[in-house]
Amino acid sequence: MNQIEYILITGGAGYIGSHTVVELIQHGKTPVIVDDFRNADPKILRGVEEISGNQVICERVDVCDETAMRVLFERYHFTGIIHFAAYKAVGESVDEPLKYYSNNLNSLLVCLALTEEFKVENFLFSSSCTVYGQPEKSPVTEESPIIEAKAPYGATKQMCERILSDFVKSGANIKVLNLRYFNPIGAHPSGKIGELPSGKPNNLLPYLTQSALGILEELTVYGNDYNTLDGTCLRDFIHVCDLANAHVKGLDWLENQQEALNEIVNVGTGNGSSVLEIIHTFEKVANRSLKWKFGPRRSGDVEQIFADVTKAKKLLKWSAQKTLEDAVRDAWNWEQKWRNETIDTN
Ligand code: UD1
Repeated sequence: MNQIEYILITGGAGYIGSHTVVELIQHGKTPVIVDDFRNADPKILRGVEEISGNQVICERVDVCDETAMRVLFERYHFTGIIHFAAYKAVGESVDEPLKYYSNNLNSLLVCLALTEEFKVENFLFSSSCTVYGQPEKSPVTEESPIIEAKAPYGATKQMCERILSDFVKSGANIKVLNLRYFNPIGAHPSGKIGELPSGKPNNLLPYLTQSALGILEELTVYGNDYNTLDGTCLRDFIHVCDLANAHVKGLDWLENQQEALNEIVNVGTGNGSSVLEIIHTFEKVANRSLKWKFGPRRSGDVEQIFADVTKAKKLLKWSAQKTLEDAVRDAWNWEQKWRNETIDTN
């Protein structure tokens, strides 16, 4: 009897997780989402099912709960894990460091202990360009220096990468791929899934689209005196569907490797765009003007960072396909659709 090969997706109901689940299903994989919905909305799963035309398997479990997780490893034959589940708000991590260290480190440790026990060989980790801090120059390659993180959030990503590296060095029979994400934005073009920050968003795009709808006050652009062309910060904004696709390519690549390994790959577009460029792109694709103002710099912000994506192209045969306009248009489409439907059903 052929055993079904499942892919465990921790945090699979979240923003990047849900888009990755769609991509995986469309590529013939069978994902099992593990999410306790502390930072996700169960309605997103309906969107995933509508897009993929498949029922999704979802287990409501806290990834830090090793006993509950072991039950899942006994129930499903996992051949790979994509570990998204983590807290990610930089400011909150400064105020509540223990919450971040406890959740982000323990969830990884639980997953790794179980990979060993159940001999799961392929492991993909959600890392971040935050590990580079403010680099001396961009684009940053995977060899660019790691600078000690200022905020606990970034420190957890650095520590998790270190744990994975030490685990592989110890002789564990596991193939690890760390994907260092740049700034994911946008939503599925269908408008059925997208970013759903809980409470007031910290990130630029959800703040912008919510302020355009009048849900939030006008957008403040943090700082206009940076050493960039227009004085505002520069980031590598990547469409979330491109990022999701990088996971499918990454998993395929891992599955084709024969030996234990630990690799790191940047996932970005290779282009830097400023905060003002995002505003102008929004005004163009939404065909309306946005109310915004300049404010002081946000503490802890890096001035500019964008990715060198040579390794992603070479190793994973992956590169971003969508434009900045696509991403901003999809984010706007999603925000309007979600708000309309939420109002309709309440
Ligand atoms: C940071 C991390 C990223 C992490 C993410 C999690 C870096 C380089 N990036 O993203 O790895 O995954 O947090 O949340 O450390 N902005 C405004 N007004 C706003 C909101 C944002 O001007 O209301 C500006 C910010 O100052 C920044 C840019 O928009 O220049 C992007 O900000 P944001 O979306 O919060 O992402 P990062 O801080 O780059």
